Amino acid sequence: MDPIVATPISESSNITDLVVTNGNGVKGLSEMGLKTLPKQYIQPVEERITVSNILPQESIPIIDMSNWDEQKVSESICDAAEKWGFFQIINHGVPIEVLENVKDATHRFFNLPAEEKRKFSKENSPSNSVRFGTSFSPEAEKALEWKDYLSMFYVSEDEASALWPSACKDQVLEYMRGSEPVIQRLLEALMKRINVKEIDETKKSLLMGSKRINLNYYPICPNPELTVGIGRHSDVSTLTILLQDDIGGLYVQGNNDSWVHVPPISGSLVINVGDALQIMSNGRYKSIEHRVVANGSKNRISDPIFVNPRPDDMIGPFPEVLARVLFNYASRGGGGEA
Ligand code: OGA
Ligand code: NI
Repeated sequence: MDPIVATPISESSNITDLVVTNGNGVKGLSEMGLKTLPKQYIQPVEERITVSNILPQESIPIIDMSNWDEQKVSESICDAAEKWGFFQIINHGVPIEVLENVKDATHRFFNLPAEEKRKFSKENSPSNSVRFGTSFSPEAEKALEWKDYLSMFYVSEDEASALWPSACKDQVLEYMRGSEPVIQRLLEALMKRINVKEIDETKKSLLMGSKRINLNYYPICPNPELTVGIGRHSDVSTLTILLQDDIGGLYVQGNNDSWVHVPPISGSLVINVGDALQIMSNGRYKSIEHRVVANGSKNRISDPIFVNPRPDDMIGPFPEVLARVLFNYASRGGGGEA
């Protein structure tokens, strides 16, 4: 009999101590070599990801941005944002080295001893804007997710340099700086289609006034079919720019409750529309649900940058989008009955 399975590890208080209080995370659980998944992580059947509702023949668009100022590139971006809410970009201009460095930095952070990572937990973190955590709020969630994360709200380079973990901050900041022109180009293209000709300071602030970066770590899981890396959700962002490694496991909602895999492509970035942009575009661009499977044989990482309005901003559809709706209505003799 395996002593690890037989120990009281399945008791909630021990799991909390090990995973949360002591800073081991799910990664620590995974490294104990558990043969079975602790029951807190077992998802209800309807939340699990089975092969029966996956569409292997479908894929989200892959857009080559080398000639990003060409009309057809902008059109592919807008078409993808309308139809899928998700696409991958290649030749986007962020140097491969910058991407490789941030992936290495992600591993470096999660490979730190638990005592080091614990310094950034909710209780200990020197700032609210940096948080090392794991999906552990048994009172709030039906079942836990098989993931650890480091989440960093970006205020300024100075603040980041002072507060972010030194194992990753330089590489993360370089990745954020490098992705800035890409974010601007994407938003410019997306705005043009919805009749926003110029992104003035007010709009710029609403579209990209604040940023958050997460480093996600999905450790090897003893029973991947019973749990999830992240359950179905949409992002609250305007846009999310996600770098993933070569393991795979991100799925996007397709038609009729089916799921479409986002295959890793070396050097690519995954882009998705979040709730804020769906709202600002009056539903024209779609914020689509997505989720991540747990993996039975490999550790996976991902690094999403969430481009957001500022936390206190009120958002609504841009006037340009509404002007169009009103115009169309009026031009059809609006209001009168047929
Ligand atoms: C997220 C997310 C996907 C991934 O962090 O919001 O959807 O592939 N991540 O890790
Ligand atoms: Ni997401």
